[in-house]
Amino acid sequence: MNIKVMYHTTTGNTRKISQAIASAVGVQAELIEKNTSFEMPVDLLFIGDGLYGGKAHKSTIAFIDQLSPATVKNAAVFGTYGGQPIIVNYIKKLLQDKGINVIDGQFGCKGKAWFFINRKHPDETDLNMAQEFAKRTMEKLT
Ligand SMILES: Cc1cc2nc3c(=O)[nH]c(=O)nc-3n(C[C@H](O)[C@H](O)[C@H](O)COP(=O)(O)O)c2cc1C
Repeated sequence: MNIKVMYHTTTGNTRKISQAIASAVGVQAELIEKNTSFEMPVDLLFIGDGLYGGKAHKSTIAFIDQLSPATVKNAAVFGTYGGQPIIVNYIKKLLQDKGINVIDGQFGCKGKAWFFINRKHPDETDLNMAQEFAKRTMEKLT
């Protein structure tokens, strides 16, 4: 099975989660930046971001816009947020609007924000739960 883990981060929290997921599935996490392109078809794309002003980052939105069911057979969503746990549903909707199958059971957790909110997150428990999410997702496809 061909798997990718891709993420955007502004302050580093989502990178930690993506690296935990990537190590659980045996690949390297890849950063989504402005103009990151996506051509090689995958069976499963793990994709994640933080929440910024109630939305995913514009790089992530532009990245998803170029995806299609021809290049992404299945997607699994993860994300981090300060207080509003809406990032996973936000990304899920972007993917579904492109016709991409999103596997049930996304992963979200709090991330450190503005120096004092969620100071310790993502923590060890968050990282372990992200890895469990990755394994469960893989099991659903095999
Ligand atoms: C510019 C900015 C805007 C943010 N807006 C929100 C928001 O609207 N709602 C929320 O719950 N958290 C918000 N946060 C908190 C982030 O979602 C949280 O810190 C997240 O873990 C950031 O992910 P990252 O470290 O991967 O960039 C914001 C953070 C930043 C830096």
